[in-house]
Amino acid sequence: MKEVKAITFRVFRFNPQIDEHPYYDSFEIPTERGITVLRALDYIKQNLEPRLSFSSFCHAGICGSCSMKINGMAKLACTTQVWDELKNSVEKNVITVEPINNLPALRDLIVDMQPLVRKLETYLGWVEPAMPEQEMGKKECTVSEEEFRVYDPATDCILCGTCLSDCPALKADPDYVSPPVLLRSFRMNADSRDKSEEERLELLGELHGVMDCRGCNRCAFTCVKNIPIMQAIQSLRERVMQKKLSGKS
Ligand code: SF4
Ligand code: SF4
Ligand code: FES
Repeated sequence: MKEVKAITFRVFRFNPQIDEHPYYDSFEIPTERGITVLRALDYIKQNLEPRLSFSSFCHAGICGSCSMKINGMAKLACTTQVWDELKNSVEKNVITVEPINNLPALRDLIVDMQPLVRKLETYLGWVEPAMPEQEMGKKECTVSEEEFRVYDPATDCILCGTCLSDCPALKADPDYVSPPVLLRSFRMNADSRDKSEEERLELLGELHGVMDCRGCNRCAFTCVKNIPIMQAIQSLRERVMQKKLSGKS
């Protein structure tokens, strides 16, 4: 017979339409080994509290929508096993679940990702084709293996926002560029198909940009894909400094 543990989930609740203040609800549920925090929340929603709100889609660590604080640490709920998480619990068999920090709380565990999306737009988080339009479709645009290796780890980013939850620079300044946007900027700048590196570096060198990073390493520590974000940030800082010293900024 499978072993079952009764685990209490202490869940952050807040519906701005009816609640004056956030509060915590507790739900005790039976859990088996292998159950993830996301499955546990699904169980609570289906059986105990249908109004409980959280985001999820892939259940496989791919879509990036289920980032939340679990026992105080930002993680993906769909890749966090309940039984494993018990070792981080302050109170025996109690797991606390809250929305990530540094993004506006919308409802219960859901945060507003729009500030992150707007920053991706501000810092040109896409490839701006270097190839003239008239040549497109006629010429192949190849990327060497050597070049791809430079930004390959950064392409693993699923924009889940986990790494920004504990960023002290973002906490102090909500307009700070934020770690996932820095990573995206690095990735785009390293891509030879892109022509916006200079413009991006200009933006990153301004107030709220990469020079405001405190180098604390928390983003890299919490990244759910183990992406070496600090290397990307360091590289951007060097490029911004070079640009400033060369007088091109
Ligand atoms: S290293 Fe910079 S971007 Fe990363 S968490 Fe610290 S302040 Fe934020
Ligand atoms: S860098 Fe890592 S933690 Fe941050 S958004 Fe990308 S995948 Fe998520
Ligand atoms: S539900 Fe997609 S990453 Fe967790």
